[in-house]
Amino acid sequence: MDFMETKIRKIDKNQIEQKIIEEAGEVLREGGLVAFPTETVYGLGADALQEEAARKTYEAKGRPSDNPLIVHIADYEDLKKIAVNIPAETDILAAHFWPGPLTMIFEKSDVVPYGTTGGLDTVAVRMPVDPVAQALIRAAGGFVSAPSANTSGRPSPTTAQHVEEDLAGKIDMIIDGGTVDIGLESTILDMTVTPPMILRPGAVTAEMFEEVIGPVSIDETLLGDESEKAPKAPGMKYRHYAPKAKLMIVEGDLREEILAIRQLTYAAHRENRKVGVIATNETLPFYNYGIVKNIGTRENEKTIAHGLYRVLREFDEEDVEEIYSESFAAQGIGKAIMNRLEKAAGHLRIPASVIIAKQKYRTVTFVSRTDSARGPMAAEMLRQYDLKQEYVINSRGIIVLFPEPANQKAEAIMKSAQMTLENHISRQFDEDNIQDDTLVLAIEESQKEKLLSEYGENGNIYTLNEFIEDDTEIPDPYGKPLAAYGECYEILSGLVAKLADKLDSLAEEEK
Ligand code: TXA
Ligand code: MG
Repeated sequence: MDFMETKIRKIDKNQIEQKIIEEAGEVLREGGLVAFPTETVYGLGADALQEEAARKTYEAKGRPSDNPLIVHIADYEDLKKIAVNIPAETDILAAHFWPGPLTMIFEKSDVVPYGTTGGLDTVAVRMPVDPVAQALIRAAGGFVSAPSANTSGRPSPTTAQHVEEDLAGKIDMIIDGGTVDIGLESTILDMTVTPPMILRPGAVTAEMFEEVIGPVSIDETLLGDESEKAPKAPGMKYRHYAPKAKLMIVEGDLREEILAIRQLTYAAHRENRKVGVIATNETLPFYNYGIVKNIGTRENEKTIAHGLYRVLREFDEEDVEEIYSESFAAQGIGKAIMNRLEKAAGHLRIPASVIIAKQKYRTVTFVSRTDSARGPMAAEMLRQYDLKQEYVINSRGIIVLFPEPANQKAEAIMKSAQMTLENHISRQFDEDNIQDDTLVLAIEESQKEKLLSEYGENGNIYTLNEFIEDDTEIPDPYGKPLAAYGECYEILSGLVAKLADKLDSLAEEEK
């Protein structure tokens, strides 16, 4: 294909410059290609009634030509010119959802060339609400075919820059109207069957249809990955929206998903694999490794729909090898989000529970009398190890009257070993420290007894000596000269080394 210069024209939705619209309309009438904003995603426009224009569209996108295009109209009366046998419910649906993110499929009229419909006798029609799109459609003569303006196989574009990345040099013009509103493609509803059938979920949901025309059906091939049947919308069979990295959806309740993704990213980090995480506003702080992207807030699923394609494109640019995504409730627009995410993942799913079962302990809590010397020293020593699994490592005291910094002699000894307790503040042990996945290690037997008498056998409570099966006594340096702290350090550091080995061998067993 020849390289052509792609003109880029910025336009303000609220104050549309008619000259630009006329220029773009003329390009379309002459059979050229113009990318333009719609409320869903950017579309690659062509005159829908010219067969040759459709051919150019497929070529620019690198898209198989059996994949039909959606014809965009700006005036409802125009529907009758391109569709026949229009069922009665259409008026009601149009009254509620047009202009908007809904595409309806009808039997086509003779004016629509087979090039546009990918050889089908039906035609997909949408009336977008975006004022730039409407103005352009009218300027082009009323019928603009427009697939999403991405290279086939890439996520749909939600900004003009995305279009430019994919199609600069291959199309005549890009109208830059800023970021789109919705961020996922329109809902496709097949009106040629009774009841109408959803072929692609989008912002107009099954529940919304139901409220106005009663129940609709859903293309069963959308529901699972097991189906052998081809989806009814030819485009849904392709693995589009695909990022370069291997994308995997982690499924469970949200807590499980977070734990599993933490484990997976920690492992990737240790193995030097570049990894990405699709997280939300609410879960962002839980991830310590990998490139973590905020897709939106769980309080408003629309923000997640809006962020999905942007995030997938950003990951492409950062060359991550694998991406782990949290999953989202498949309700309302969540259905469309999960549908696109699953397609992007090629239906790769990981059950969170299977991953988290591989790690027994996630927290190691050392317990000493006042949490000011031996406990925090052991914790800091353990933090130095590159352990096979990730642990939150902390310490607590049996009697902590008020929070205090670490003992100064303990800090002096740690400093001489290139470690520090300067961020340590002593804290009282409490019931929150008793958890299924927390390993509690008391420095002395008496401390363990105290915890057992208070919390019973529920927790994983051991002495450090007992857990690593080494009965070297840990001396109490309290009130003694610095040398006593040094001696304590030596013993403790030997025991912590054994603890690190023990934790790593547990990690092996659980693999
Ligand atoms: O939101 C949207 O619908 C965007 C904007 C630009 O309007 N357009 C869009 O077009 O997503 P595209 O080409 O990327 O996706 C159109 C989908 C494809 O899956 C195609 O197979 C299906 O619609 N489709 C088009 N005509 C059809 C027909 N006659 N029967 C069944 N499926 C059809
Ligand atoms: Mg598309």
